[in-house]
Amino acid sequence: MVGSGGREHALALKLIQSQRITEVICVPGNGGTATLERCRNLPLAVDDFEGIARFALVNNIALVVVGPEQPLANGITDYLIEREITVFGPTQAGAQIESSKAWAKQLMREASIPTADARVFSDAQAAIDYIQVKGAPIVVKADGLAAGKGVTVAATLPEAIAAVEALFGGQFGAAGHQVVIEEYLTGQEASVLAFTDGLTIRPLLPAQDHKPIGEGDTGANTGGMGAYAPTPVITPELMGRIQTEILQPAIRALDQRDIDYRGVLYAGLMITPKGDPKVVEFNCRFGDPETQAVLPLLETPLEELMLACAQKRLGTLPPINWRSGAAACIVLAAQGYPGSYSKGMPITGVNQAEATGAYVFHAGTKQQGEQTIANGGRVLGVTAIGETFEAAIANAYNAVSCIQFEGVYYRRDIGYRVKGTGLSS
Ligand SMILES: Nc1ncnc2c1ncn2[C@@H]1O[C@H](COP(=O)(O)OP(=O)(O)O)[C@@H](O)[C@H]1O
Ligand SMILES: [Mg+2]
Repeated sequence: MVGSGGREHALALKLIQSQRITEVICVPGNGGTATLERCRNLPLAVDDFEGIARFALVNNIALVVVGPEQPLANGITDYLIEREITVFGPTQAGAQIESSKAWAKQLMREASIPTADARVFSDAQAAIDYIQVKGAPIVVKADGLAAGKGVTVAATLPEAIAAVEALFGGQFGAAGHQVVIEEYLTGQEASVLAFTDGLTIRPLLPAQDHKPIGEGDTGANTGGMGAYAPTPVITPELMGRIQTEILQPAIRALDQRDIDYRGVLYAGLMITPKGDPKVVEFNCRFGDPETQAVLPLLETPLEELMLACAQKRLGTLPPINWRSGAAACIVLAAQGYPGSYSKGMPITGVNQAEATGAYVFHAGTKQQGEQTIANGGRVLGVTAIGETFEAAIANAYNAVSCIQFEGVYYRRDIGYRVKGTGLSS
């Protein structure tokens, strides 16, 4: 397991729940994966491809799962495949669907996948001229990976122009040397992640997350402050359309480019007021924290799905099984996040939280002897299950109330959109 976030902790936990898995090695892992049984951390960097390959070969590792986008964009899959190591995660060419928003737009255009109208610029003045013609609101995006900080949803022209100037001024290095200027979409956002072996698509339960730091979805954007699944915004009918209008055409377009895509294809969607799904972006890996909400509901062994993707036989598996009910994940952050925040605070109450039946996923933690300490902006993700959204959300907050560390911050309104709604799937 390559990565060190809450997503990787959730993936590792799901994998070791299968008796077929003897051990999960996390590279580098975190305080949570360090304390899981049959799981241990290996102190290598996620971009140490040589070290990871050597370890996998010497130890006869059955499957390498890559969590984050950066090593995928840097070609970890290509490197490992060349050495005949089985990998879950797309090649560098496939990862372009996330690592270049301009490339993804071109692919969507060619495949007639519904998305915001957009144009790509590699010159600041041309981008600004275009913005002045189009008017605000308008969306300005760095082409490359920017750790979730490359997008400005500009309400006014001066904001949009300032965003273009910041990108070409080098704020994001090479990621900002091209910008995508995009039509502003309204509606509700939702995420549909799918397993794929490049031929077959098997969607996971649809999820929604809360990006803004503040309650009522206000304030600065973060990596995600909470998530829940299965969101009723994606009805079974809409899920059918998302498969035929978005996911399948994307896989066919990748195949036409001779890209052998194996892993997760994640569609970030806007469901427009008319009820049509449009792509906001694609990601080439599991989402964080959506994964922490979706995986606890998965009943099919995760390694069966991952191996079937890696070995190009996903179409031969029976349908994915899910348990009934809903799941909610609440993120506990360090005070100050997403700005500067402190580290090193001792965390208490995790065992009590787990004793309520909740999962406590470590996002930014470290083990210091017996003590778990905060070591990141997003520190923990607490997920609970219930037969309804109300129950899942109440169970999650009940577990959260057990946990303490200095300056702990979390939103108290996770899932407000779905409270009181039925479950669609
Ligand atoms: N065309 C758009 N219209 C309205 N909001 C958008 C649009 N594109 C992006 N956003 C908002 O900005 C957020 C980040 O954009 P996204 O393309 O997902 O980039 P990234 O996740 O790489 O930062 C989205 O989740 C959405 O809230
Ligand atoms: Mg996004």
